[in-house]
Amino acid sequence: MRIGYIQFSPILGDLAANRKLVRERVQAAPPADLLVLPELCNSGYRFPDPAAARACAEDAHTGEFTRLLRELAASRGTSLVSGLCERDGDRTYNSAVLVTPQGEVHPYRKAHLFLDEKDLFLPGDLGIPVFDVGEVRIGILICFDWQFPEAWRVLSLQGADIVCHPSNLVLPGLAQRAVPIHALLNRVYVVTANRIGTEHDLTFTGLSLVVSPRGEVLQSAAADREETAVVEIDPRRARDKSVTARNDLLADRRPELYGVITSDGRGPEPA
Ligand code: ACM
Repeated sequence: MRIGYIQFSPILGDLAANRKLVRERVQAAPPADLLVLPELCNSGYRFPDPAAARACAEDAHTGEFTRLLRELAASRGTSLVSGLCERDGDRTYNSAVLVTPQGEVHPYRKAHLFLDEKDLFLPGDLGIPVFDVGEVRIGILICFDWQFPEAWRVLSLQGADIVCHPSNLVLPGLAQRAVPIHALLNRVYVVTANRIGTEHDLTFTGLSLVVSPRGEVLQSAAADREETAVVEIDPRRARDKSVTARNDLLADRRPELYGVITSDGRGPEPA
């Protein structure tokens, strides 16, 4: 199986220009089964206020951006995962869609909002699902979601082979250090597709990467250049959770000890 990322710089507020950029880059990409694009690819990131985000938001199933992704996925025979500024009725979400060559559209809404995103978007309300595409199971996390080990675990417990991670990362180098560890601790492939460029006060950090279930960086991009890369992987490697002859990453868990994770997380007051 061939998976990869497209690292580029969407243009804030210009939906038509972003469709053109995405069309050109997907059409120019090497043959792949799965390509991941950055967060908020249809719209850009640094909206000044909720109205500006709303003006760029599109229906995840019927909007023009998803229509383009469906057309490209079908013509290229490639599943695409892309960030999307989503409108659902009067609600706006920082979302991503997984679009297959067969025309299926699977949305995910960012669960953990970063900084001023809290003024612009509602937190995700679709859970942290996995999607079966052919023989592989795919999960999605969006950018700052990477900080939450619980989210990675939820995906690996549901059998994700590949975690797609559309991003607009701004904290230099942090996610790029942590993602290989999350991959290793959950034995999943990860594709982080980050963007480059600057919008107002934010500079995006590039360095997109593909990581193996053993935490090896299989491919990585520059910090400040457009880049598309595709690597060959064997998704069956993500299904081997054995650590030693007597240890299994998932089977050895002790969920009865972890209840605090699903409560408010504060645990008992110190004595
Ligand atoms: C981020 O979540 N876009 C930093």
